[in-house]
Amino acid sequence: MKGTEDILPGQSYRWQYVEDLARDLFDSYQFHEIRTPMFEAYELFARSVGDTSDIVSKEMYDFYDKGDRHLALRPEGTAPVVRAYVEHKLFGPEYLKPYKVYYMGPMFRYERPQAGRQRQFHQLGVEVFESSNPATDVEAIALAWDFFQELGVRNLKIYINSLGKNEERAQYRQALIDYFTPLKEQLSPDSQNRLSANPMRIIDSKDPKDQELAINAPKILDYLGEESKAHFQAVQDYLQALEIPFQVDPTIVRGLDYYQDTIFEIIVEDDSIGAQSTVCGGGRYDGLSKQLGGPASPGFGFAIGMERLLLLLDQQSVEIPEPDPLDLYVLGLGDEVNLVSLQLVQAARGEGYSAERDYLGRSLKSQYKTVDRLNAVLVATVGSNELESGQLTIKNQKTGKTFDVQLSDLLSDFASYYRKFTQDTSVIDEFFKGGY
Ligand code: HAM
Repeated sequence: MKGTEDILPGQSYRWQYVEDLARDLFDSYQFHEIRTPMFEAYELFARSVGDTSDIVSKEMYDFYDKGDRHLALRPEGTAPVVRAYVEHKLFGPEYLKPYKVYYMGPMFRYERPQAGRQRQFHQLGVEVFESSNPATDVEAIALAWDFFQELGVRNLKIYINSLGKNEERAQYRQALIDYFTPLKEQLSPDSQNRLSANPMRIIDSKDPKDQELAINAPKILDYLGEESKAHFQAVQDYLQALEIPFQVDPTIVRGLDYYQDTIFEIIVEDDSIGAQSTVCGGGRYDGLSKQLGGPASPGFGFAIGMERLLLLLDQQSVEIPEPDPLDLYVLGLGDEVNLVSLQLVQAARGEGYSAERDYLGRSLKSQYKTVDRLNAVLVATVGSNELESGQLTIKNQKTGKTFDVQLSDLLSDFASYYRKFTQDTSVIDEFFKGGY
């Protein structure tokens, strides 16, 4: 299907690596996972992301279900999380404050597919509620930054801007309308439409002519009140103190209506992933909880595009550890070893080891190919002789050493033999670390 992708086993380990690293990091920042449904009421996105935004007006997969409800596949994760926050009263005194969650999963936007832009794509995101402290903005930006650093991604740049409060944005909006109205005929057709509905979107238009006209347009930072200015200044001071590199870019406006004050994007500066170079976007949305029927709880969050990130890791040749090697391969010769092969792999798996065997009566040569492919640590060979004598040979593929062992011993205590044959010292290490 256009704009969708199957993630096959040869690729899924890369996804898991990135997701595992994210979970560990999110955990160290004390974010906990939330999982919300894939579809929501259409109204939720129309009211939060905004019905004049491109996302809602052009890109939503919306439909009526058999009960005539107007629904939409979620195009993003913030509105669903805020809905859940309000619905489950997660602002209550029994919950941690600030309330911090993360999510990972598919989002849906009807966009023109290209590298790094899909119709079903995946985001890793975080949301923090109840703190309007600028340290929260900085911590979230630092978290995104740490994540990319830990992965080993290069050539990223953080751009930040402030959209101020509602009233400030309303004044700015009017100033933009006043500025662009006399230039209307020169704007791109898209921007002509944006002029009355969403004039801030003209500022970040990708059209070169729009960009030229926008150079002298009023700047949002000139419309900020004292409180917004102080907040934005603190964000910059704290980022500097943490030595997180950033640049203020007043042309960033973000395409979702719920933002106010700090917004940010992380962009790939080299051309490794082409035009779709924004790998992370986010900001503050203090009005959203109230707008969706909850308390006036401030909020801050961001989302990272997984497809873009994986493309970037690939293009920058960032090393991703291969899946773990296989602990045991049972090389079986002849029909009569079918049961014992089964018992052997089950004995290993029962002790927490990974194990595989032949099921197809393949030749020794093709079974050895599998051994190599799975990077097996131990290979146990069983044929009619082994079955008769009750004794078999195990080879450690890494050292080349072979060991003779009784079949019954192996079946009853696989773990001890595995440790012996691999001289696994992790148990001893654990002992000295006080793990036992
Ligand atoms: P967004 O900027 O719309 O923000 O999306 C965040 C990221 O998702 C983008 O920077 C990009 O990497 C990825 N992305 C978006 N659309 C696509 C697509 N069609 N194909 C592939 N990747 C895509 C949000 O969604 C906000 N909810 C972020 C946020 C969280 N703000 C506050 N909290």
